[in-house]
Amino acid sequence: MTGAGGFIGSHLVEALVREGANVRALLRYNAAASIGNLALTAPDVLSQVKIVHGDLNDGEFVKNLVDGCEAVFHLGALIAIPYSYSAPRSYLHTNVGGTLNILEAVRACGQPLLVHTSTSEVYGSAQYVPMDEAHPLQAQSPYAATKIAADKLVESYVRSFGVRAVTVRPFNTYGPRQSARAVIPAIIGQALGRPEAIQLGATTPVRDLTFVEDTVAGFIAAASNESVVGGVYNLGTGESISVGELARTILRVMDVPARIESDAQRLRPENSEVDRLVSSNAAFTAATPWRPQVNIEEGIRRTVEFFQAHPQLLPRGSYVR
Ligand SMILES: NC(=O)c1ccc[n+]([C@@H]2O[C@H](COP(=O)([O-])OP(=O)(O)OC[C@H]3O[C@@H](n4cnc5c(N)ncnc54)[C@H](O)[C@@H]3O)[C@@H](O)[C@H]2O)c1
Repeated sequence: MTGAGGFIGSHLVEALVREGANVRALLRYNAAASIGNLALTAPDVLSQVKIVHGDLNDGEFVKNLVDGCEAVFHLGALIAIPYSYSAPRSYLHTNVGGTLNILEAVRACGQPLLVHTSTSEVYGSAQYVPMDEAHPLQAQSPYAATKIAADKLVESYVRSFGVRAVTVRPFNTYGPRQSARAVIPAIIGQALGRPEAIQLGATTPVRDLTFVEDTVAGFIAAASNESVVGGVYNLGTGESISVGELARTILRVMDVPARIESDAQRLRPENSEVDRLVSSNAAFTAATPWRPQVNIEEGIRRTVEFFQAHPQLLPRGSYVR
């Protein structure tokens, strides 16, 4: 698996190990040999994972990584939209070049099944809702552009070389271990300090939020149902919530009576902001038994509990005891 030390990847590693899989986990090479979010997994899980440090951008390395695998879950990517404004070439290298390396590796290594990770950001703002897989693609950030390119490379390798790949397209995923830069941990971080007001960027964008356990179950369903191979499938709940409503839900769950203010410095450029993302999951629920299980109140409650237990993972200064 690539991206195994990331937010979604670490939960997927856990789920796969608990299902009895032998997991080879790629973690981005770093001098400290840190293992990212895998450090938060249970010791009985971690002891069964084969950890490999390296880089998706190195084709020979990726081939050795994939050799001998039955299935490859490709989640490794640069994902922060704001960072993609300032470092687009890094996104091109990792998200497009890294995916090309994975595709060449699966071709060279006897065609293991590839589960490739897209994102709802490839659609841009909804032109209609719910958004099915036929919705037009529109890159509203360099991040989205690189994910579109990666998805299209996968499509081309399916058609040109018979690569056995399924592309899953998660809508926004949240839960324990999510990066503190994302909106839910940012709100929780501020609310833990019990301020009079919390500061957000835009409060009007609407999102379809999936709890990470449900997203992970979607990856496993994609790898377990032969009928989805060759296709592209949305993973979302079909429910929608605005960022403002989301903040009110978090504050209610945490019992914090703070005002919500929109801070201009946190806004994305106007034409880059994705106003509305709401999925149709009809194709995936028809093809697999997958159904999202965790509603937003329950998911938020479990996320809040996690960050209350791990306040050091929140942005510095956001949490004042
Ligand atoms: N979080 C969401 O809401 C969401 C929604 C839709 C799609 N996705 C997709 O899901 C996947 C996982 O996202 P996440 O939220 O867990 O992000 P994350 O940033 O937590 O995980 C991505 C991982 O990729 C690794 N990585 C980056 N560059 C690398 C390189 N050159 N070599 C090796 N590893 C490298 C990072 O170290 C990180 O651990 C991504 O492909 C993302 O585009 C995420």
